[in-house]
Amino acid sequence: MSSDYRLLVRNARQMVCVCDARQRFLLKEQMQQLAVLEHASLVVGHDGLVKAVGGVREIDEQFAGSSFERTLDVTGLCVVPGLVDAHTHPVWAGDRVHEFAMKLAGASYMDVHRAGGGIHFTVEQTRAASQSDLQGALSGRLERMLRAGTTLVECKSGYGLDTHTELAMLRAIQSVRHTLPIGISATYCGAHAVPRGKTQEEALQDVLCEQLPRLQECVSRGEVCVDNIDVFCEKGVFDRDATRQILSAGKSIGLNINFHGDELHPMRAAELGAELGALAVSHLEEVSDEGIVAMARSKTAAVLLPTTAYILRLKQPRARDMLDAGVIVALGSDFNPNAYCCSMPLVMHLACVNMRLSLTEALAAATINAAYALGASHTHGSLEPGKQADLLVINTPRWEHLIYQLGGHQELIKHVVIKGNIV
Ligand code: NIG
Ligand code: FE
Repeated sequence: MSSDYRLLVRNARQMVCVCDARQRFLLKEQMQQLAVLEHASLVVGHDGLVKAVGGVREIDEQFAGSSFERTLDVTGLCVVPGLVDAHTHPVWAGDRVHEFAMKLAGASYMDVHRAGGGIHFTVEQTRAASQSDLQGALSGRLERMLRAGTTLVECKSGYGLDTHTELAMLRAIQSVRHTLPIGISATYCGAHAVPRGKTQEEALQDVLCEQLPRLQECVSRGEVCVDNIDVFCEKGVFDRDATRQILSAGKSIGLNINFHGDELHPMRAAELGAELGALAVSHLEEVSDEGIVAMARSKTAAVLLPTTAYILRLKQPRARDMLDAGVIVALGSDFNPNAYCCSMPLVMHLACVNMRLSLTEALAAATINAAYALGASHTHGSLEPGKQADLLVINTPRWEHLIYQLGGHQELIKHVVIKGNIV
């Protein structure tokens, strides 16, 4: 190593650090006062971690005489942390463009699901796909997310609903850990739907007695790496009791609980998540007042998904009530064949317009709080010494353009940097 440091990012017009006191998450008031430096620089070590952040003169003085493998002169540009997408379903074959047309013509999500479409349709296509097709499709999607500024992404299985295909999906996720620079948090979601022709009880037993034990074997052999467990807790899918059993079993083998709840019907999923010590519950369009209080108390993050409410024309989750009550609010794209969105800037835009988040709240929700929902906010989600140097250089006079401009984000994002490497 001939240089002292991997990277110097020098003289950003604005550098949004998000937070600067090693907070693991931000609540409403802190989300409104993000740490923003003007004319700032940042230094990254060869370990990919941030070594220093500060004013351009201060950093120039502190590192006078040091050498850098690479220097990025970002004069006139802005820097924000890499975006964190806390909820995606990126491994599947086929598409559901025909169902988009059906939904526009008036069919509801559950009408399509009950008729054997929706998740069932994608399960059929995914079971029939080869391992390399799954990997190729996943890779292409993650590459698009990366170009739109996502540097850490949660990736779910859940279109197999049997041991073989669930593991194939998790293997695909494992393979891209080695081929793409994007950070990954992997989620086992074998209880994403009750397979066609099975009862809930049969599906529950399959998950508990077949899929989870096989998953554990594969994890212990190092074939796959899984961080979280998920269930679709919904009327007509998995009820509260089945959800509790699956999530508890996952927790007992060391997985973080992070599940779909209170989306289409009030299920008291938020209360269940709080009781089980879930790191996060996603959706929450139908959350109860008690559920909001319980999540605030248990520090369970609410992962809100603006694309779902938009595309299914659902009522919006009560983001402001959650923020006012002290819930940790995070964002995710929910990328899946129903909500085909790879762009967290667009997700932040929708969250601002439809859920009434402010610009700073949306950025905090898509960085530090999303990292918290994945159990990764000690390493990701803000630009602070000791954290992984994941950042975006954006070619706009103020950082807020990343959310303000509707689409075209790939042109705004001049560089995506992961662990101090320009990718
Ligand atoms: O988060 N609600 C359950 N799961 C996904 C949809 C998956 C699908 O329709 O394929 C969601 O929106
Ligand atoms: Fe989802």
